[in-house]
Amino acid sequence: MALLEILCYPDPRLHKTARPVQKFDASLRSKVDDMAQTMYEAPGIGLAATQVSILENIIVIDISDSRDELQVFINPEIIWKSQESKSWREGCLSVPDYFDEVTRPERVKVRAQNIQGEYFELEAEGILSVCIQHEMDHLVGKVFVEYLSPLKRARIKGKMKKRFHT
Ligand code: NI
Repeated sequence: MALLEILCYPDPRLHKTARPVQKFDASLRSKVDDMAQTMYEAPGIGLAATQVSILENIIVIDISDSRDELQVFINPEIIWKSQESKSWREGCLSVPDYFDEVTRPERVKVRAQNIQGEYFELEAEGILSVCIQHEMDHLVGKVFVEYLSPLKRARIKGKMKKRFHT
């Protein structure tokens, strides 16, 4: 296993679109292991492959307090969203130390494949629903700050550039 570098906003590589996973092989298992280790080490509750420069539709999530309930979603698709929406204070490993309110559908039903390539469906609410939607946005090149006002986004960009300026 290896720790992967997490890209930080506004890195342009965060805006690339991931491709579907087609081979469910050892190389995929090793990517998922590395992503999980990177997420736990960060620490975070979710990580999308785009954030670690892997342009494949893979997300890992663990919202448990015990940090031992890894959920892996390969090629996830949202097949249903609730009409009701809800605001949550979101954060992101690619935007360190910044949190803000984002409004999203409260519940979603997702269809994805597991590491063996088998399809499963899951209905999520609460933080799991937020996390799945947030991570799936990453796979299409979208970072949560893009839901905020242009002014807030400009401030965040400025802060991040200062922080990572060497
Ligand atoms: Ni994120």
